Amino acid sequence: MEYRFSSNVQRLQSSAVRDILKLTQGKEIISFAGGLPAEELFPLDAIREAAERVFQTGKNSLQYGLTEGYLPLREQLCVRMAQKNMHVTPDEMIITTGSQQAIDLVSRILMNPGDVVLVENPTYLASLQVFGLSGLNVVPVESDKDGMIIEEAERLMKQHKPKMVYVVPTFGNPTGRVWSLERRKGLIELCQRYGVLVLEDDPYGEIKFDANANYPTLFSLDGKEGGGHVIYTSTFSKTVAPALRTGWAIGPRQVIGNMAKAKQAADLHSSTLDQQTLDQLLQHFPLNDHIRTISKAYGDRLQQMQALLTQQRWSDVKWVEPKGGMFLWLELPEGLDSEALLRAAVQKNVAFVPGASFYAADPQRNKARLNFTYTTGERMATGIARFSEALNEFLARC
Ligand SMILES: Cc1ncc(COP(=O)(O)O)c(C=O)c1O
Repeated sequence: MEYRFSSNVQRLQSSAVRDILKLTQGKEIISFAGGLPAEELFPLDAIREAAERVFQTGKNSLQYGLTEGYLPLREQLCVRMAQKNMHVTPDEMIITTGSQQAIDLVSRILMNPGDVVLVENPTYLASLQVFGLSGLNVVPVESDKDGMIIEEAERLMKQHKPKMVYVVPTFGNPTGRVWSLERRKGLIELCQRYGVLVLEDDPYGEIKFDANANYPTLFSLDGKEGGGHVIYTSTFSKTVAPALRTGWAIGPRQVIGNMAKAKQAADLHSSTLDQQTLDQLLQHFPLNDHIRTISKAYGDRLQQMQALLTQQRWSDVKWVEPKGGMFLWLELPEGLDSEALLRAAVQKNVAFVPGASFYAADPQRNKARLNFTYTTGERMATGIARFSEALNEFLARC
């Protein structure tokens, strides 16, 4: 049989992270590649107790549910959103199978093949996969340590008339960067002027190393000006556990309504067991304290990784210290190809993600993304020693 796949599928590239994982199967590899939270910090007992409470409610807990999501969970999430100055009612919210699905649904309901989406350069790899699968024209906007360069965004809006901008303004993936308030306001102002919708993806915003730091979401800034330009999505994957596959999106009723229709077609609804479990968890478990605990631990892990890298005294390996999130974005010496470095690193049983995969265009090959949340202590020290050995050998050869 000759399978005649769609042209979008033919263009689809497999994720570099998955390819690396394949490469490393069955080996004693220390991986800084995946965006994995620390397993030892998962609130296992609290999730078990929450799930037990759900089962105690009886057989009804196993029934089909609403496409928009379990109402008590949406109500609790609305309260959490209001604490961040995002004021919505449950019918302006949809529960999704991770925020990954929110990105997919938004693309499906708003974009036609060939429509333009602006993205940061670099940006979240799996969003590029979604946009590719939808046949979108992805136009990267030059970005620096403070976020998207607004003048560039404006130039590209005039040139390409995009329908949507996709951004991760707080502790982005892969860069870990946090946008300045000026850039946040600048983008909202542009989108209001040019009638462009923003998809704000915020899985990491709560994982901040300075508990008192305040990074207003684009959604909250837009709200002050009348609203309607931002669809915001977040997830429990990084703050509770990714296995629960529960995220949510908030936005104008019309948009959420159409996302619900698209979701019916995709999966009817996300797991009601997981949603009920999270509802119980939010009622009985101090989630904010837990988020403070993991943020503190991740901040310590980042310090450890930075100290290990600094010990190497490389003059031309640089990074900007992230203020939150899960990733350290390394700039390696000019001309170094981090994909080749990865192959050498894998021989030494350590993995990371080469930077090129995160660019919609003009990939910078001398960048590397290292996750600092999954490993710690001796294991992190061994992993960074292996990485350093690979890099040093590589530099000596070049
Ligand atoms: C920027 C970004 N958006 C979305 C996701 C998807 O998260 P979820 O597990 O909620 O689907 C991730 C996961 O790593 C991410 O880094």
